[in-house]
Amino acid sequence: MAAVRRAVRADAPQILELVAQYAAQGLMLPRTLDHIAARIDNYVVATDGPARVIACAALEEYSPSLAEVSSVAVAPDRYGQGLGSQVVLGIERLARARDIEELFALSLTDNFFLSLSYKATTISRYPEKLARYETLTRSGVEIVPKRCFQKVLGKSWSAPRLVEQAATVGQKRMVG
Ligand SMILES: CC(C)(COP(=O)(O)OP(=O)(O)OC[C@H]1O[C@@H](n2cnc3c(N)ncnc32)[C@H](O)[C@@H]1OP(=O)(O)O)[C@@H](O)C(=O)NCCC(=O)NCCS
Repeated sequence: MAAVRRAVRADAPQILELVAQYAAQGLMLPRTLDHIAARIDNYVVATDGPARVIACAALEEYSPSLAEVSSVAVAPDRYGQGLGSQVVLGIERLARARDIEELFALSLTDNFFLSLSYKATTISRYPEKLARYETLTRSGVEIVPKRCFQKVLGKSWSAPRLVEQAATVGQKRMVG
């Protein structure tokens, strides 16, 4: 059973590997190992056994109240098992712990974020993101247009808790 947890430094190369394959397809922005390692506290991963990272997502903060759910990636052999949803819920918990009230996400896949109770919106609502896109475009990164989704966490919101199966002792404990 997969475990969902905050990422640690040792996960960075595998996060890079996951993200790089989708960045090459234009599905997400490319990242470097240094970028990921320096922001490892912003990542959530799902792991299979102690070492293999099979899904990841990142929280990218724009202001004290606004952040993007980015770099949502699941290993192709593990699609459709709820792992994408689990890492996004992990990011939502992290966002709430940091008092972030609004999340947005960009995706070519409509149903994924809609299934997580995000609402379709327009990227023009987020000039901070548009400004970053302009900077990236100027530096030669190709930006694929995506649809924008938004979720307000609100003061009373709390993410469903994640259950981790401890593989060795067979005990269940809550993580996140
Ligand atoms: C998109 C992605 C993260 C989904 O991960 P996943 O673990 O397969 O997703 P889940 O199992 O949690 O699926 C949750 C819901 O999302 C929807 N969904 C997932 N993948 C989808 C796809 N490719 N197309 C349409 N809907 C999709 C489904 O409605 C699913 O609900 P269901 O269980 O009723 O079918 C994964 O396919 C991926 O890594 N894709 C490439 C990277 C990418 O595009 N990331 C951009 C940000 S989304």
